[in-house]
Amino acid sequence: MTNQENLQREVDQYVSRTPRSRDLQANAEKYLPGGSSRGTAFFGPYPHFIERGEGHYMIDADGNKILDFMINATSLILGHAHPDIVAALQEQAAKGTAFTGPTEAQVRLAKILTERIPSMDTVRFTNSGTEGTLMSIRAARAFTGKHKIAKFEGGYHGSHEYVAVSVHPPLEKLDPAGPTPIPEHPGMPPSVLEDVIVLPYNDLEWCERVLRENKDDLACLIMEPVVSSFGYLPAQKEFLQGLRDITTELDIILIFDEVQSLRIASGGAQETLGVTPDMTSLGKIIGGGMAVGAFGGRQDLMDLLNPTDGATIAHAGTFNANPMTMVAGEVAMNHLTPEVLDRMNALGEELRAKLRAVFDEFEVAAQVTGIGSLFGIHFTEEEIVDYRNVIRADSQMRQALFTGLLNEGILLQTGTAGALNTLTTESEIDALVDTTRRVVQRVR
Ligand SMILES: Cc1ncc(COP(=O)(O)O)c(C=O)c1O
Repeated sequence: MTNQENLQREVDQYVSRTPRSRDLQANAEKYLPGGSSRGTAFFGPYPHFIERGEGHYMIDADGNKILDFMINATSLILGHAHPDIVAALQEQAAKGTAFTGPTEAQVRLAKILTERIPSMDTVRFTNSGTEGTLMSIRAARAFTGKHKIAKFEGGYHGSHEYVAVSVHPPLEKLDPAGPTPIPEHPGMPPSVLEDVIVLPYNDLEWCERVLRENKDDLACLIMEPVVSSFGYLPAQKEFLQGLRDITTELDIILIFDEVQSLRIASGGAQETLGVTPDMTSLGKIIGGGMAVGAFGGRQDLMDLLNPTDGATIAHAGTFNANPMTMVAGEVAMNHLTPEVLDRMNALGEELRAKLRAVFDEFEVAAQVTGIGSLFGIHFTEEEIVDYRNVIRADSQMRQALFTGLLNEGILLQTGTAGALNTLTTESEIDALVDTTRRVVQRVR
């Protein structure tokens, strides 16, 4: 049987398991484009609608119980509806959900983050990771007086204009000679493409040449030290250290987007990989399940936002640091002791090894990437070092595994990546491994 037929059989089974979601989707399409508010929440032929979450599980609109390794794109690190978070939110809701004045809760969460994260002298809260990266870039521009930014091919940093370049460029648009700025959407201003420099991940020689050529105009290099869209691939250490050295020499602000990678250690990937950026953007887990983002870094950079000193950069936001998000974030961060993170990371290591063994058993060409409690599966023989290896992998196998797992009650990200949470034990790891074995057996 071909891959296409195997995939179709899984999709047919998914449709038969989710009649209510299919009806809900049809209704949603009348009011929302494609029935959806969010690119990553959509998958074909239609996504399952969610009724509620319980710990490691979600219950969908058809009553299917789903073991969740998507956990809202890695953000629900204590699982769904954690009782401590529910209690904190109930208590805060009764006192008021948002005020124009500051609350003590934002100071407590800021203290936790700045004490844990090496690069972060002070921090500002936003309502999304998108705003976190946007404001990091703005601060870098204001500080250096330069206007260009550099990012990596395949890197995602949210949905604002300057990072909407070469995020998911299709294979046929890639210049074989190396990365070029490719717009994500029609109608992007040509000036954006002139001001964004796109680099290949893990290629220090290339990056050094281009950074040197553009040093007089380059405000910052924004990057993930662990690339989410490459299945949580950590940067090679010499590459990361090399970029740190070059950006320091050339007065280019190094921004780490740790919206997803913060979870691998108390101080994030910068602690694990031993390289400290000038600024860091955050999101996801720091809000304890509520909408959140943040950015922080060196005091001299962050002082550009200081309202007691004229605020070179005015930064408003109606719901910035609202106490609902702050109290939920504080509960989550307090649960994440080094011991808890180490335990999750060890389970992640075990999962990656067991998944590799399954693919070896069936002689399926696959790579399992990841670090700490994050993992990614790629159906390719190529070692994953950059975007091009990722995009050349077999997307039909990926979709078949994603759908096959869902048919057996396990949710990964559509890119067959995922994250553990504090409730994950050996038993959930083995459930994922055993189910992967069954699905691979029938779709390979
Ligand atoms: C690495 C990274 N940066 C930035 C963002 C944007 O965060 P948000 O979706 O909260 O705007 C995301 C979201 O998935 C992300 O994964």
